[in-house]
Amino acid sequence: MSRKCYVDITQAELGPRNALLALAECVACDSFSSESLSEELRLAFDSAGWNLYFPNKTGKSAGQSKVAVDYAQPSFARRLEADNLSREFAVRAVRGRKKSDYQPLVLDATAGFGRDSFLLAASGCHVVQAERIPVLAYLLEQALKTAVQNPCKRQALAAQRCRVVCGESTTLMADWHGPAPDVVYLDPMYLDPNKPADQGLKASAGVKKNMRALQLLTEIYEANYPAAAKAASNQALFAAATSLAVSKVVVKRAPSAPVLAGMQPSSCLTGKSARFDVYAL
Ligand SMILES: C[S@@+](CC[C@H](N)C(=O)[O-])C[C@H]1O[C@@H](n2cnc3c(N)ncnc32)[C@H](O)[C@@H]1O
Repeated sequence: MSRKCYVDITQAELGPRNALLALAECVACDSFSSESLSEELRLAFDSAGWNLYFPNKTGKSAGQSKVAVDYAQPSFARRLEADNLSREFAVRAVRGRKKSDYQPLVLDATAGFGRDSFLLAASGCHVVQAERIPVLAYLLEQALKTAVQNPCKRQALAAQRCRVVCGESTTLMADWHGPAPDVVYLDPMYLDPNKPADQGLKASAGVKKNMRALQLLTEIYEANYPAAAKAASNQALFAAATSLAVSKVVVKRAPSAPVLAGMQPSSCLTGKSARFDVYAL
């Protein structure tokens, strides 16, 4: 498949060559030129960091949308404040009733835009953010570099507790080196047949835009790496997660989605926009 893509490096200071490679790997394309401006995907750096532009075919007119991994975005940054964090369902599902000094190692095996795992890191967890789509893994890495320098101590500390791994999590979990994670967190894509654009989750416009970008990137990834995509079924992810985790596996689902891999959880936390299935091991 031939995909046109473009990295705008004019203002980049943070390793444009790596960005180019990440985008090239993502779309399995090895030739770039400034003529590819009618690109499907474009990675561009502005004063606030890297943005991924993608075609927006929803609504009446086709245009470009942009997404970024930005932990300092005000509405997200508010969720990181101590009082708000303790109400986050992902945090409650992962930490359970443990005390505030509990610092588990969490593998977020489906990191995406890293929002859930950054919330976990802000709550004190040490997090490995695993993401198979190289351009997303690149955005996650750059976002950590930015967050480490944030004058807000909570942001900087959370970033210090995260590290990004680019790769298939089924393989990563099977070949895991070092202490096993206490918790494996899974949030694989769930396509509600009735609401294909929003995974069945009740979501804000910004989150829906992220989901559309994820859908496009996933389609490209799976078309270019069909064997890897097939090997990483929900069953395989769930089996690898339950073999590796020490204390539990937490699965985020849309409220109406079926349980992952047909497995009934030990308990559930259901919020307005998502359900968290907890599998105690
Ligand atoms: C719904 S998103 C996760 C969103 C994330 N929880 C957040 O807060 O931004 C799912 C992500 O998991 C990634 N993914 C799915 N299967 C994977 C696998 N087997 N290995 C690594 N990443 C995977 C997808 O590429 C996608 O970016």
